[in-house]
Order: sequence, then C-alpha cells, then structure tokens
Amino acid sequence: MKNILEVRDVHLSFGGLVALNGVNLQLREGEILALVGPNGSGKTSLLNCICGFYRPQKGSIIYRGEEITRTPPHVRAEKGIGRVFQTPYIFHGTVVDNIMVGYITQNRNMMKLMTLKSTIEARKKAEELIEFVELEIYRNSPAHGLPMGIRKRIELARVLMWDPDILLLDEPTSGLSIDEKRDMARFILELNEVQGKSILLVEHDLSLVHDIAHRAVVMDAGVEIAEGTPEEVVNNPEVIKAYLGE
Ligand SMILES: Nc1ncnc2c1ncn2[C@@H]1O[C@H](COP(=O)(O)OP(=O)(O)OP(=O)(O)O)[C@@H](O)[C@H]1O
Ligand SMILES: [Mg+2]
Repeated sequence: MKNILEVRDVHLSFGGLVALNGVNLQLREGEILALVGPNGSGKTSLLNCICGFYRPQKGSIIYRGEEITRTPPHVRAEKGIGRVFQTPYIFHGTVVDNIMVGYITQNRNMMKLMTLKSTIEARKKAEELIEFVELEIYRNSPAHGLPMGIRKRIELARVLMWDPDILLLDEPTSGLSIDEKRDMARFILELNEVQGKSILLVEHDLSLVHDIAHRAVVMDAGVEIAEGTPEEVVNNPEVIKAYLGE
C-alpha cells in the first residue's frame, strides 16, 4: 500500500522540554493507524506538526509525496488534511452554525463566501453531515452546554465540511460513554471503509484500537517504540513497560 503521509525524523522542543525526539511514522493510503502511548508521550504534539500548528525544529512531513513541513495550516487543510481536536472547539450559535464554520476552511475567498449560492451549498453540506453524525434532533439547539458526546460529533462534522482525505483524530472517544464510543467507532469505520479516508487515530482505549485499527504505533517520551498489528503491539514487552513502568 502507498504511503499517503510520512513523518521523518521529527524533532520538536519547547525551550528545554523535548516533546518529539526523532519520530518516524507512515500512514498508508486507506488504513486506520492507531497512535497510542502514555500521557505526555507526544501524540498531540505530533498531530500538531502534521497539521501545521507546530513547526518542528528538525525533520520533515511528507503528504502525497510532497514536502509540507513549512506549509501553513490552512493550505494543508485545503490539500486534504483534517484535524479533530482532543477538546472540541464550540462557538456560540446553533449546532448547524458550528458545523458550517468548517466551510470557511476550504473557501477562504470572502467575496465568494457571501454569495447566496455558497450559503446554500454550505447549508446543504452541513445538513448531510448532521445526518451522518446523527445529530438531527440537535440541529437548531445552541451548541454551548451540550454534552461531550455531542460536542465530539459536532467537531467531527465540522472537519468533514472540507472533505479531507486524511483525518487526524485526537482521542475522539475520550469522555464518552460505552454507547457513545460505539457510535463514534461506527462513524470512523464508515469514513474509512465507505468513504476511503485514511485515518490517524490517537486513542487510549486499547480494546477500541483492537476492534477498528489495522495497525498501531506506540510512542513513549517523544519517539515511536513499537509498530505492528494491535495484538502485536499490546503484547510487546517494551510497550507494557512504557505503560506500567519498570
Ligand atoms: N505548547 C506547549 N508548550 C509547552 N510544552 C508543551 C506544549 N505542548 C505540549 N507540550 C509538552 O510536550 C509533551 C508532550 O505533550 P503532548 O500533549 O504531545 O502529549 P500526549 O501524548 O498528547 O499526551 P495526552 O495523552 O495526555 O494527551 C508534554 O511534556 C507536554 O507538556
Ligand atoms: Mg494529547
């Protein structure tokens, strides 16, 4: 399988704190790759380097064979990289409004945005996505104050507004009930299997990783320490040591 994304020897530090210490990772076209590791191991920092929020001091990010290490975040989004955050960003306004915001990412020409045609187009797409994430009954509710399970779906739908080819999902099931986790897993599987999206999934729930990921990479202290099928990875002694300590 072809690599859609490659992370090569990425180093990132904040002052004296080394968050990423030479990370290498390949996301293959059409796969769900889980990224697991203890708290503070650098998973979110790596997603930030891939989507362009952080600029690594060394190393490169290659997307579809093109180096994008210094490409601004909105250009990476236009190229097809979608990012979902660990804590959802919710703005004042309804659920529909919160999803429609994603349209701006792909259509930054404000003149075009203000046309009736684009408003209708954005609205139509948002309605389709509301159905996809099964939020019909919340469509016109104020988004503020809705429970975490709903906020996570809003954020997923917002990113899907620009139809990305790869999705960087940062703990999409954290804080969710078992039923909500199952729903989220179903959306992720459909995005992968039916829509063909390649997915990099940061996830602490190893049973969920086992159920939906094709492959897993384990990070500890800013480097990848293991790679393989989910079964291989959870039985790897290095991984057990990283999780449980010496
Ligand atoms: N903006 C920042 N400024 C300073 N330090 C940061 C910043 N972002 C991350 N770090 C540090 O980098 C290290 C890696 O953090 P990161 O958030 O990437 O870990 P993580 O694997 O996502 O952890 P978690 O599972 O808790 O989400 C941590 O020591 C963290 O404190
Ligand atoms: Mg994190």
